[in-house]
Amino acid sequence: MKGIILAGGTGSRLFPTTLAVSKQLFPIGDKPMIYYPLSTLMLAGITDILVITTPGDLPQYRRLLGDGSQLGLNLTYAVQPEPKGLAEAFIIGADHIAGGPVALVLGDNIFHGQRFYDLLQQHLTGVRGCVLFGYPVTDPGRYGVGETDDEGRLVALEEKPKHPRSNRAITGLYGYDSDVVDIAKNLRPSARGELEITDVNRTYLRSGRAELVDLGRGFAWLDTGTPESLLQASLYVRTLEERQGVRIACVEEVALRMGFIDAESCYELGRRLGSSDYGRYVMDIAKEFS
Ligand code: G1P
Repeated sequence: MKGIILAGGTGSRLFPTTLAVSKQLFPIGDKPMIYYPLSTLMLAGITDILVITTPGDLPQYRRLLGDGSQLGLNLTYAVQPEPKGLAEAFIIGADHIAGGPVALVLGDNIFHGQRFYDLLQQHLTGVRGCVLFGYPVTDPGRYGVGETDDEGRLVALEEKPKHPRSNRAITGLYGYDSDVVDIAKNLRPSARGELEITDVNRTYLRSGRAELVDLGRGFAWLDTGTPESLLQASLYVRTLEERQGVRIACVEEVALRMGFIDAESCYELGRRLGSSDYGRYVMDIAKEFS
């Protein structure tokens, strides 16, 4: 399965900071935001990943992540010149997808929870049709919203409804079979001039091929769209990290645990990060493994 991280957009709700720096490079805790969605794809066992960003931001992402080989990944890059909608990722990434299944994760979506690995393996790997992940929120009108029937089957999807019919937000992690490219190519832009991911998902739903997986209350899906939610996400991550002495979304650790790199390479990655706590953590984890 291929992966796509979409890290475009203008981040207008975070002006003026995003005038100069891509939002998905902001620190959450002690690491860049994109480490979180990247580790989500890695946990799903995905190593071939396309990063889509704006022409101006691409050099920074490349500087941060390179070709991914240090993490046992194959990272490539593409640009979305203008914010024309999330679904454009499948058109830009058509060659990368190359007729197989694909997982899309939004570069600002942070997931954390027990057994996430199992959940991803169970639902994302070998996806037929599309798989969506739902999460209960108090402000569903800010998101794509899924409505289910009494048996928990998905019956309707709406994008940012004024009057949401459920509190179940559709999170920014999606799995699709290869039909997604043609579906995206046949979409018409919405009223706000974008190719909407919700319209892609509706197409699958209409043909009875959309699965909804609920992330329960023991799970965290964090928002990073506003200054307050950014701070909350950082505090959440640091609280757990300091309490337990572990790190969330440490991509070097994930690469090691997933078997993408060996302990020696992992240690070297930590050493290169010098004297930061993060670097020391990576070295410690590598030592535990060797
Ligand atoms: C996008 C999608 C929305 C989804 C959300 C998840 O919204 O359009 O359906 O619920 O991501 O983060 P945006 O963040 O672009 O407003």
